[in-house]
Amino acid sequence: MSDISEMRQRLVSAATQITGIKGILASPSQTASYFIDWRRRYRGEALAVALPTTVEQVSELVKLCCSLGIAIVPQAGNTGMTGGAVPLDDRPSMILNVSKLNRVREIDDLNNSVIVEAGCILATLRETLERAGKLFPMLLGSVGSCQVGGLVSTNAGGINVLRYGNMRDLVLGLEVVLPDGQIWNGLKVLRKDNSGYDLKQLFIGAEGTLGIVTAAALKLFPQPTNSGTAMVSLPSIQAAVDLLRVFAHGAGGKVEAFEIMSKGQLENVLAHHEESSPMPLSSPWYVLIELADSSISWNPNELFEQVLAGAVERGLVRDAVIASDSKKAERLWRLRHSISEANMRKGFSVANDTSVPISKISVFIEQVDERLKQEFKAADVYYAGHVGDGNIHVIIVFDRGFYDSDEKREAAAARANFIVHEASVDLDGSISAEHGVGLMHIEELEHFKSDVDLQMMAQIKRAFDPGNIMNPGKVLGTHRIDAAANVTL
Ligand code: FAD
Ligand code: MLT
Ligand code: ZN
Repeated sequence: MSDISEMRQRLVSAATQITGIKGILASPSQTASYFIDWRRRYRGEALAVALPTTVEQVSELVKLCCSLGIAIVPQAGNTGMTGGAVPLDDRPSMILNVSKLNRVREIDDLNNSVIVEAGCILATLRETLERAGKLFPMLLGSVGSCQVGGLVSTNAGGINVLRYGNMRDLVLGLEVVLPDGQIWNGLKVLRKDNSGYDLKQLFIGAEGTLGIVTAAALKLFPQPTNSGTAMVSLPSIQAAVDLLRVFAHGAGGKVEAFEIMSKGQLENVLAHHEESSPMPLSSPWYVLIELADSSISWNPNELFEQVLAGAVERGLVRDAVIASDSKKAERLWRLRHSISEANMRKGFSVANDTSVPISKISVFIEQVDERLKQEFKAADVYYAGHVGDGNIHVIIVFDRGFYDSDEKREAAAARANFIVHEASVDLDGSISAEHGVGLMHIEELEHFKSDVDLQMMAQIKRAFDPGNIMNPGKVLGTHRIDAAANVTL
């Protein structure tokens, strides 16, 4: 028997004692879908997949892996965009998937908070809260599959960040199993707490490298009494940025989402979905706007008409469609939420996730567009994303047959990423706004972050996980963590 099968056998038999037989998957037919990412770009292998149902089981599984020298890859809905939840082949590992740890533990009506376990699917959480008259405002295309643990660990963004912030702004407290198996109960539901370092923030966006998030206390808001959606076409990206300001002034705090698509992006969505265009595609840019509020009496469509009339007069908007009912609004939003799937269907899509200050979005797109079109004449370049937080996804789609090997395709992807990242960093932006670093951007993080940044990150990682057992090879390269042993800050 090989060392690996012996190790698998020892792991499975001991882990089964902890979770029961249904909590451990080890045969290839059971595990295959856990080993590959949503975009089907990264594939790895682990000894087994564990599906614990309690935080105590998570703790015991972590202690077991420590004792056997097996790395742990935390996983939730596996919809991540950077390969962070995919196991690597260079070291024996176990996927610890939190999907079965999925209860809504407690809703506190007066405190406007909920305590929910890491495996709860976002759509389930939102529906449960809606029945209680509450809103958890995080919303993204993967709402039906992504889970609380993944959202926290990637510090996810989505379409409502403009009004409510990203996960970092929405988390009040966390429960985490640390790399030595200790359970940290940081499930506070306080809005104010200055009693020392804010430890939960370290785990938000850590992509599973510092511990396993098992539950989160989250901020809630009142359900809106009314909402409305409009789609507008615009002559330029700068018009979109200016229109956002017009809405911020004209509609007060009611702007829930403000999402942009380039013409090519919208055409590709329409080509891959059974949707028709709500307006002629004769302009280069399209924005979907949602207004929502819990005020007692207001009319979203009247507000839209009022604000848009001024914007048309100023030449910011060419054409506009206001959804007359919620079904029509849903159809408009389906166009936006279908972007990633449509791009994946079209070809090999390299989706970037940079952010720049909102005031620099226009110059960023101008520079990136020119450089990408010069370098990749055969690719389609699309733009989509979140104008309200400067996070525009630049998406380069290659025909699947264009490169004849994986190596050439990956080299083209790396080059495209580099061009986009360089342009954003030159404009004081970031190489990752909401998807994280994962496996995909480790080298670029090394390139674009300062040495002091990387050293602080590596020191934190070593302090929490000296054995580098939690999601090794993600976010920071192993060499960086090893080097931190010889450096003091
Ligand atoms: P996973 O993919 O399972 O994991 C993501 C990372 O978190 C991995 O590094 C993993 O190791 C770690 N992790 C998972 N669970 C835990 C845990 N319990 N403890 C510690 N670490 C853990 N993202 C956005 O931000 N905004 C968008 O608008 C957006 N739109 C999307 C649209 C589509 C169609 C798709 C497929 C994805 C989209 N995403 C978006 C990306 C993705 O949905 C988010 O990154 C999401 O937060 C991942 O959640 P998950 O449960 O699938 O996590
Ligand atoms: C989005 O905003 O649609 C996402 O972050 C997904 C993507 O970039 O593909
Ligand atoms: Zn996004």
